[in-house]
Amino acid sequence: MTDDANRAAPRGFSTRAIRAATRAPRVDQRPNAVPIYQSATFSADDAEELGAIASGTAAGYAYARLANPTGDALAAAIAELEGAEAANVFASGMAAIHAALLSVLRAGDRVVATKAIYGSTRTLLSNRFGTLGVEIAYVDATDLTAVEAALAAAPTRVLYAETLSNPTIVVADIAALAGLAHRHGALLVVDNTFASPVICRPIELGADLAIESLTKYLGGHSDLLGGSVAGSRELIAAVKAVEVDTGATLAPFAAFLVLRGIATLAIRMARHAETARALAGWLERQPGVVRVYHPDLPSHPQRAVAARQFPHGSGMLAFELEGGPAGGRAAGGAFIDALTIPERTASLGSIHTIVAHPPSTTHRQLDAAALAEAGIAPGLLRCSVGLEDLDDLIEDFGQALEAARTAAAAANSAGGTDAAAEAQPAAAASAT
Ligand SMILES: Cc1ncc(COP(=O)(O)O)c(C=O)c1O
Repeated sequence: MTDDANRAAPRGFSTRAIRAATRAPRVDQRPNAVPIYQSATFSADDAEELGAIASGTAAGYAYARLANPTGDALAAAIAELEGAEAANVFASGMAAIHAALLSVLRAGDRVVATKAIYGSTRTLLSNRFGTLGVEIAYVDATDLTAVEAALAAAPTRVLYAETLSNPTIVVADIAALAGLAHRHGALLVVDNTFASPVICRPIELGADLAIESLTKYLGGHSDLLGGSVAGSRELIAAVKAVEVDTGATLAPFAAFLVLRGIATLAIRMARHAETARALAGWLERQPGVVRVYHPDLPSHPQRAVAARQFPHGSGMLAFELEGGPAGGRAAGGAFIDALTIPERTASLGSIHTIVAHPPSTTHRQLDAAALAEAGIAPGLLRCSVGLEDLDDLIEDFGQALEAARTAAAAANSAGGTDAAAEAQPAAAASAT
């Protein structure tokens, strides 16, 4: 028996083929994985029911941009993991950030955002919202006095921060920022991508909206793009409305992959963090390494906040190779080129270890002076530690450090400057 049994049998071959190929079985058992509802449309029993579903007065599905069961299952899972009342998922992390901001900002509003911010978010704020009449002020989010002064300077709608941020793994004190934001009538919006909800749950620390690029740790395998925003039911209803109006909907297959990733997120994060902690400690003892940034190291500038906020550590680290302006940049490039295990790409949160050289990738739009102002040394490398064996990574990093030292010495004996940085175009787009 099929749902079509009571309808007149269609006659033409095309008609029959379409109906035969799209007759979804009704399954009474509960599957043990959330199915990929690969359908743009969902049928109702009659016109009235369809109207009620489409207008949101009845539960159900009508059109996948408005809602899709696989995406809804993912949103519910994320809300639960973030400790939030609700969540909504998006086609990418940037789509999630855009929707979170657009849901609360109007022309004339003001945003105070952390200086240490993902490049595309900065572009979105300054080049998109900035040109639509939103005022943006950047501040060092680790300097709470400066944050308070920025919030006190003018009425502010949003304080925007990242839990852990580029490129030197800066740690934001979310509870303190939430207190300041709320005292000044602002919402705290936090991009939690570098941490994931295993490591940190901004909503539980007082943030109003928590954003993840699902492309990173939650997906975890470098095989999808996605984003999420979690928060109160009221705020997420407004975020959802932006998704419906802008169409930045997460595809059901990507939602399925993220759900699969979430099932192993805790165990992956434990291994990412354990390997990163060991690698960071080893790097600190190597010749040619000036400094290592990892939240578990006693030398990390925000170690006290990190200890309180990230009891499970972090899979992200950064380190600086010595060599001065020319030697440092040459060392960074030589290190990347000599690696045999890490991928030469510019993402994070994957099974693969990924090493990036911010001066030539994520921050390549900055000239030498701007790099220095952002605290980015020419030899700075950022590493998202994957799930490979620690001993293999140490061996590979060891030989890459050797290549880096040789390259730095050669560049310095040639007496160069950081010519590559000086030649940077002013506003190239940022990678991850
Ligand atoms: C901190 C952070 N937030 C947001 C994004 C954007 O995510 P997506 O690439 O999924 O749009 C990235 C991408 O690298 C990121 O690093």
